[in-house]
Amino acid sequence: MYDNLLAPINAFLKYPTPDAWVEEAKKPENLAILLRDHLICELKAAQSALFLLKRYALTPEGVTQLTDLMAPYEQFAYKRIGNTQTLKGKNVLSKSIQARSDCSYGQDMVDKMVLLIREELHHFYQVLEIIEENNIPYDPIPAARYAKGMLKGVRTYEPEALIDKLIIGAYIEARSCERFAKIAPHLDEKIGKFYISLLRSEARHYQDYLTLAQDISAVDISDRITFFGEKEADLITSPDKDFKFHSGTPV
Ligand SMILES: [Fe+2]
Ligand SMILES: [Fe+2]
Repeated sequence: MYDNLLAPINAFLKYPTPDAWVEEAKKPENLAILLRDHLICELKAAQSALFLLKRYALTPEGVTQLTDLMAPYEQFAYKRIGNTQTLKGKNVLSKSIQARSDCSYGQDMVDKMVLLIREELHHFYQVLEIIEENNIPYDPIPAARYAKGMLKGVRTYEPEALIDKLIIGAYIEARSCERFAKIAPHLDEKIGKFYISLLRSEARHYQDYLTLAQDISAVDISDRITFFGEKEADLITSPDKDFKFHSGTPV
């Protein structure tokens, strides 16, 4: 049913999620860590997109608009201020967001990333609802090695650094999509349905990151895709003691 959605994602990823990770993720005692980590991943996805926009494409007014949009979610995640009631209706922009006029790819990047940011904040809200419904105490948890591991490979000059970060964004989105599909059948029905509902937007996020990377690059980016694809596959398959949404093979 989701094969046409997942086929390009599975082709893009150099290696499927190890069965041992799925076995670990199925365990009821790991549900709390999975959901708490997932919540933070949604926020990080929004924050990384905003970081890229700030650095490369936004006007000062756009920076303020999006920083304000994100603030209540960050306050919850880092200071535990608020809940699903106080966050309700907060994911709204009163004005459209404009790119800097000196940035040739700016408006395309702004349009794609603003949609992505708002979708990730919506996902954050949906994960928080599930956390509250399951009476899971919320505490922030330290980040996995995954994103950091890939960011080590980013080149230090522009626009290559931007292109690398966009390719990494594509890998994170694609792997998330693949893992949602893998674990959905093994989770409680409501959470499983929610995970399946995420596939479409995460598949588009992967595609948007990749399109932006190729559009901004003057040269073919296949070798960089291969480079990060190998790094990503290593992080997802090598032994990893720290079970998280994007962790490696459990030991
Ligand atoms: Fe998401
Ligand atoms: Fe996403």
